[in-house]
Parts: sequence; C-alpha cells; structure tokens
Amino acid sequence: MEKLYEGKAKILYPEGEDTLRVYFKDEATAFNAQKRGLIPGKGVVNNRVSAVLFRYLEGHGVKTHFLEELSEREMRVLRVEILPLEVILRFRAAGSFAKRYGVQEGIPLKNPLVEFSLKSDALGDPLICPEAILALGLAEEEELAQVKATTLRVGELLRAFFAPRGLDLIDFKLEFGKRNGEILLADEISPDTMRLWDQKTGEPMDKDRFRKDLGGVEEAYQEVLRRVLSEPEKV
Ligand code: TMP
Ligand code: ASP
Repeated sequence: MEKLYEGKAKILYPEGEDTLRVYFKDEATAFNAQKRGLIPGKGVVNNRVSAVLFRYLEGHGVKTHFLEELSEREMRVLRVEILPLEVILRFRAAGSFAKRYGVQEGIPLKNPLVEFSLKSDALGDPLICPEAILALGLAEEEELAQVKATTLRVGELLRAFFAPRGLDLIDFKLEFGKRNGEILLADEISPDTMRLWDQKTGEPMDKDRFRKDLGGVEEAYQEVLRRVLSEPEKV
C-alpha cells in the first residue's frame, strides 16, 4: 500500500479520511540521523509500549490520537495536523540539558521543566522559547498553554506508572496535533522518546544505550516492554 509519509522510526499509511495506520520500524537514528543503526524488535516494543501508555493516559482524561493496536508493529490513529514542536519535560538533568548548562546527568531539577524545540531536521530541532512560538504563529497562546499543562499532567501520570515498575522517568518528548480545533497528544511514547533509568542500578534502559554505544540495547527495550506489561507489584 502507498505510504503517506516515512519518517526515521515510523511509516504512516493512509486509511479513511479520518484515520492512519502507523507502522513502527526497527531502524534507529541519533544526532539528527548522523548515527544510524538497527535495533531488532524495537518496532514491536515501541508500538506496544506506546499503545499501553496512550490507553493509560486516555483512562486518566488525556486526549490522544490513539485508536487501537492493529498488529505487533501497527496501530490505528486519528489523523491530526502535527504542531511543528517537540515538547520536552525534564525531571532530572540529562542529555542536551546537562550539556548545555554544564551540569551532571542525574541531578534532580527543583521543578519539572517544560522545553520546546522547533521540529526541523534541517535546523537540527533548535530550542525555541514560547514567545518565539507565538511570534511565528506556530501555535495560539491558548493552545500553547494547553500543550504545556497537558505535558505536565502526562509527566505526573507517567512517573506514577513507571515508579512501581522499577523505572525512574528522567525526561521525555511529546508531540501534539490538531483535529477539528482540538489538541490531541500524538506521535509515540516509547524508549525512543523517553529516558528511563533502572531504579536500583541507575542504568539507562532507553535509546541512550544506542546513542552512547552502551551495549545491551535490544535487551533494554525488551525489559522495558516486560515491565510495562507487568503488574507493578510483580516487578
Ligand atoms: P535531549 O536531552 O537530547 O534534548 O532529549 C530530551 C528527551 O527527548 C529525551 O527523553 C529523548 C527525547 N528525544 C526525542 O524523542 N527525539 C529527539 O530527536 C531528541 C533529540 C530527543
Ligand atoms: N531521533 C533523532 C534523530 O535521529 C535524535 C535522537 O533521538 O537522539 O535525529
């Protein structure tokens, strides 16, 4: 079937006027696709983890584009017009934040921090301030307020989900879309788009294993899936 769009980690296939089929690939990229590789089984993990988390968030009143899982690697979602923003929430310093401000990875932040990046591969997803988002007309003031509030709420809910599964949520990235004037959480929520550290060992259990060549990448993705699917008390 003809593709609507192929990104670095997913392929979108058109369905009806209202829905899309998302296929999750095993291909992995980092540093704006300068580093490329394959993480066998990643597509299955990311599809299943995203589906569980979208369902969990919906159950707690967060509106998302998710409709249903179609297969191991595919889900059906509502068509949305993606806002050209990556919305990042940080609980601890890590990654680009730790580097930018010269602080040690892992130090807790005094409050959860929302950051925005402009979604542009050509520009390397530069950080953008809320005032610039409004000045460029990338979102309306009310929409931006809603995106920020929803991101903070998603952060609380995800931390509460992962903590009893032995995982410390360090930071994550969300994307939002618009549909009939309504803002919906879109894209994916997976070990590609979150940092998750094992509570006991402090080991990264996410895409940082690939970014930093730490080894055990496939195993970490499988372990995250296992814990996501497990009942919290059994971890
Ligand atoms: P950063 O510290 O590299 O800016 O990443 C912050 C969070 O965003 C981290 O959980 C990984 C995620 N992320 C993406 O989902 N896509 C990206 O392209 C990048 C750079 C980060
Ligand atoms: N996915 C991004 C890229 O390849 C970066 C990352 O996740 O580190 O550009």
